[in-house]
Amino acid sequence: MALFNPKVFLTLTEGKLEGTEIKQSYKYLNALAGVFKNETARAEMDQDALIYEVQAYMPVEEGKSGGLFFGNSTIYPGKVDQEYFMTRGHFHSNFDTAEYYWGVKGEGYLILMDENRKIWAEKMTPGSVHYIPGKVAHRVANTGSEPLVFNACWPSDAGHDYESIAEHGFSARLLEVDGEPKLVEE
Ligand code: PA5
Ligand code: NI
Repeated sequence: MALFNPKVFLTLTEGKLEGTEIKQSYKYLNALAGVFKNETARAEMDQDALIYEVQAYMPVEEGKSGGLFFGNSTIYPGKVDQEYFMTRGHFHSNFDTAEYYWGVKGEGYLILMDENRKIWAEKMTPGSVHYIPGKVAHRVANTGSEPLVFNACWPSDAGHDYESIAEHGFSARLLEVDGEPKLVEE
C-alpha cells in the first residue's frame, strides 16, 4: 500500500490554504457596485482597493452531490461611508444546504437572513464556530482594524445564488453608529 503526503495544507494560525489545487479569487471595490448602501460614496473611492479574497479547495466537480468544499476568506478592514467592508452574501442555489464558518483572525459579524427576511448577526472572533442552516443567506462584515479571516466548509452541490441578494438585498445592514457596529433595518 502506498503512503501519500497531503496535497493541501492549512496554516492554522492564518487560515490560509496552500497547494496547487487551491482556487483563488479577489474582489475589488469596482466589482461591488450596488452592494453598499451609499453607492455614491463607493463610486468615489479607489476602485482598485481589494475588499476581500477567497480561496477554495474543491476536490470534486462543482454541483456534484455528496462532496464537500473547503474555503478561506479574508475581508480587509475599512468602510464605505458608515458600512463595514463585507462579502456580497448569498443564499445557496440548492436552497436547503447548510454551511459551517469559523473565525480564524480578526473580528466581525456573520449576518444571517432567513427566507422570511428575518435577520440576525453572530459575532465572529478567532475560534468562533457558526452553523449556517439551509435556506439562510449569509454575509460577513469586518468590524475591526485588522483583516478578518474565516474558514468555511459547504456541500459541493450548494451553489451560490447572488441574484436574489442583488435584487432584494439583505433586510438590514451592519453600520457603524456612534462608534459601534449596529444592525440597521433597511
Ligand atoms: O461558501 C461561502 O459561503 C464562502 O466561501 C463565500 O463564498 C465567501 O466568503 C465570499 O462571499 P460571497 O460568496 O458572498 O462573495
Ligand atoms: Ni455559502
